[in-house]
Amino acid sequence: MLTQDGGFLYDWGLVTVDTTVTVRVPAKVNLQLAVGPGREDGFHDLVNVFHAVSLFDEVTVKDASVRRSHALTGLTADGDLGSPPTRVPLDSSNLAARAAELLARTTGRGTPVDMHLSKHIPVAGGMAGGSADAAAALVACDRLWGTGLSRSELLELAARLGSDVAFGLVGHTAVGTGRGQFLEPMATTGRFRWVFALSPHGLSTGAVFGEYDRLRPNAPEPKENPTLNAALASGDAAVLGAALSNDLQPAALSLLPELERTLKVGEAAGALGSLVSGSGPTCAFLVGGGGEAPAVLDAREAEVIAALEGSGLCERVVTAHGDVPGATVL
Ligand code: C5P
Repeated sequence: MLTQDGGFLYDWGLVTVDTTVTVRVPAKVNLQLAVGPGREDGFHDLVNVFHAVSLFDEVTVKDASVRRSHALTGLTADGDLGSPPTRVPLDSSNLAARAAELLARTTGRGTPVDMHLSKHIPVAGGMAGGSADAAAALVACDRLWGTGLSRSELLELAARLGSDVAFGLVGHTAVGTGRGQFLEPMATTGRFRWVFALSPHGLSTGAVFGEYDRLRPNAPEPKENPTLNAALASGDAAVLGAALSNDLQPAALSLLPELERTLKVGEAAGALGSLVSGSGPTCAFLVGGGGEAPAVLDAREAEVIAALEGSGLCERVVTAHGDVPGATVL
């Protein structure tokens, strides 16, 4: 039987095996990123409030066992690949390929796949695009191979792949502790609207954490911010905007000083709050939400977009809303 997306379904008795699976996965912005002192394992303890927004990558896996018998994944990518477009590795170092490898090794169920990444999340932008792809690859291969793993087993594999991968599975809004991988869902009301200023430059997460250690050698233990949590729960966009915080921001600005000007442009244009997303360099601007009149919200959003586009500082300006669900099979 040919399915709508061109995949085939085979019926083996009671079991239906899908030979093509596509998973859609969102970007994240960090509403609070509190970073503790460096740990012995090289990581930092965090209080990391993840918020999934409506910029999506899609990961498609196709059974390739007939054509290939050795390499587990053959990787291709298209979409908004940034400049230069080579920033997405298409070999086994890609986190999505590593996700497939880990799932295959853990379950013994892996067969060769062609994996295609359709990218719309900024690459190396601090919005967890690579981690999102890994989460989507786990879900897609899990479905394709019929591994039978439980949700908590998949979450455990995700956490082994990277600090942000588990959130790609969960989505919505959640606070991550430990190195970011222990997730608790958070209550939110309404929909928040965001403008994102994409930088022509990339920043390495490891380099930004290194700069953080240099700038703040005696960091205190990270703590939750009750004001931010209450604003999320009540849908108060103005209070949320004022409560946004990112301890990595001074480090990102130190490595890429022009980001400070980008933040100022969006703030002067009326954003309710702004911050560098994660380790950057994407800058996020909250432009409204909750019970605000749509006309007020639209006008504010248009002002912020126009100011950023006119600044000459951004590669691109995009809008999104949050929160949205995590990795979803289409
Ligand atoms: O876990 P992930 O691979 O995303 O981390 C990338 C890098 O970011 C790590 O190698 C580490 O340098 C830094 N990091 C950290 N503390 C965390 C998460 C990431 O120092 N909690």
